[in-house]
Amino acid sequence: MAFPKKFLWGGAVAANQCEGAYLEGGKGLALPDMLLGGDVNTPRTFCPTIEKDRFYPSHEAIDFYHHYKEDIALFAEMGFTCFRLSINWARIFPNGDDAQPNEEGLAFYDAVFDECKKHGIEPLVTLSHYEIPWAIVTKYHGFYNRETIELYVKYATTCFERYKDKVKYWLTFNEINMPLMSPQVGDMYGIGVIQDVDLKRTAPCKFPDMKDVPQERLQALHNVFVASAKAVIEGHKINPNFMIGNMVCHVTRYPLTPNPKDMLETQRMDHIFNDLCGDVQVRGAYPYFAKKYYRSLGVDTSFMDDEADKKLLLEGAVDFYTFSYYMSNCITTDENADKIEDSMLAGAKNPYLKASDWGWQIDPDGLRWTLNKLASRYPDTPIMVVENGFGAFDKVEADGSIHDDYRISYFREHIRAMGEAVEDGVPLIGYTTWGPIDLVSAGTGQYAKRYGFIYVNRHDDGTGDFSRSRKDSFFWYKKVIASNGADLD
Ligand code: BG6
Repeated sequence: MAFPKKFLWGGAVAANQCEGAYLEGGKGLALPDMLLGGDVNTPRTFCPTIEKDRFYPSHEAIDFYHHYKEDIALFAEMGFTCFRLSINWARIFPNGDDAQPNEEGLAFYDAVFDECKKHGIEPLVTLSHYEIPWAIVTKYHGFYNRETIELYVKYATTCFERYKDKVKYWLTFNEINMPLMSPQVGDMYGIGVIQDVDLKRTAPCKFPDMKDVPQERLQALHNVFVASAKAVIEGHKINPNFMIGNMVCHVTRYPLTPNPKDMLETQRMDHIFNDLCGDVQVRGAYPYFAKKYYRSLGVDTSFMDDEADKKLLLEGAVDFYTFSYYMSNCITTDENADKIEDSMLAGAKNPYLKASDWGWQIDPDGLRWTLNKLASRYPDTPIMVVENGFGAFDKVEADGSIHDDYRISYFREHIRAMGEAVEDGVPLIGYTTWGPIDLVSAGTGQYAKRYGFIYVNRHDDGTGDFSRSRKDSFFWYKKVIASNGADLD
């Protein structure tokens, strides 16, 4: 496999899924702090108040806040040259609209980046990985309010100024297309627009019970685009060498049959859910198909024609394209086809693919297909895979070892597919696996859905001492990095 010489190898985490210490160091509440745990059959619920007898996984997560030195040393032992992490916005601006940033929060990330530097690891920083301060949700109605654009830009520029000599690679918003993929979940994950829910209620609220107002959701997404563009513009003023990217959740879609109706529906879904956000952020303008879709939901699209915003989107185009890739799905117009039971990623089952215990279909060739698609859609744009991984139940043997050959095999095939895409000519610059260390699942809130090369002794019943240990995949990935992707055995 011929990966480029300075290819970035590493892993990715999000603050809300690993840090814990949810009220330490002056941090305010962030939206994920209000989410309860679920499991494979029970989606997470949202509890808008903190109740003593309930379990909110982000509150302790894997306690990266106190273990970051040990964790970064383990990443270095695997040979990481890149570590993707997010800054928790509520650590920097605990109330979202504070006049001054919280120095203790800023100092924490200084220490983390210094630790990365000590080990020769390049940080890749996501500014918003779902961690919108709770106060912005309650006081401003999230990104539906244009004032939130300015709050975000202030937060972003504070980080750019503070870390301009420590961080070169930035992403503005994680999985920015989530509000299109899944309305209510997307409101939670990203735009912070919670509709028709009593925010003082003490009982949990299921996502499907929440109301969706497409006008608010899509206006908020537009404001997120503008916020991202402004951040890119300001970031380049602060340090012209910054590389600032987007981040899309790419669920690759195939037609289930060669029926032209399936082909058309697949193209339509691919356009809306996978391409729309990337087009806005990379090309700097809404694609031609956006208006028809928005209008089909009854949305007044005049915000798309605002001249000042159009100018910003164009000037604030990103420097590189990044995405998460876990699976592919099939699309069909046949209502009787065998469906995938996951509201967020709905589609039909592909008879050629196996799936994880959470129903996510495993498709390494789909990654090669996707990389080629993106390279032709966004010519001359460097691409990075910033999330890819296998959530699984792990078994700890009596001697403490963990034989996760299923995870090794998932990564082997995906890295092989990436290598083939590089040989195809795709300008791929790096790869960070999701959850190089076990962490809290975003979708289900579980610890049991483990992604790591590093095991964390922490469980869904709240037991465990947070100790870390190396799985078989740890040693395997170390070998892969050492050989720059050549040795996948
Ligand atoms: C992506 C998110 O959707 O997928 C991560 O950016 C998330 O935050 C990851 O953890 C895997 O999903 P899950 O639900 O298995 O944690």
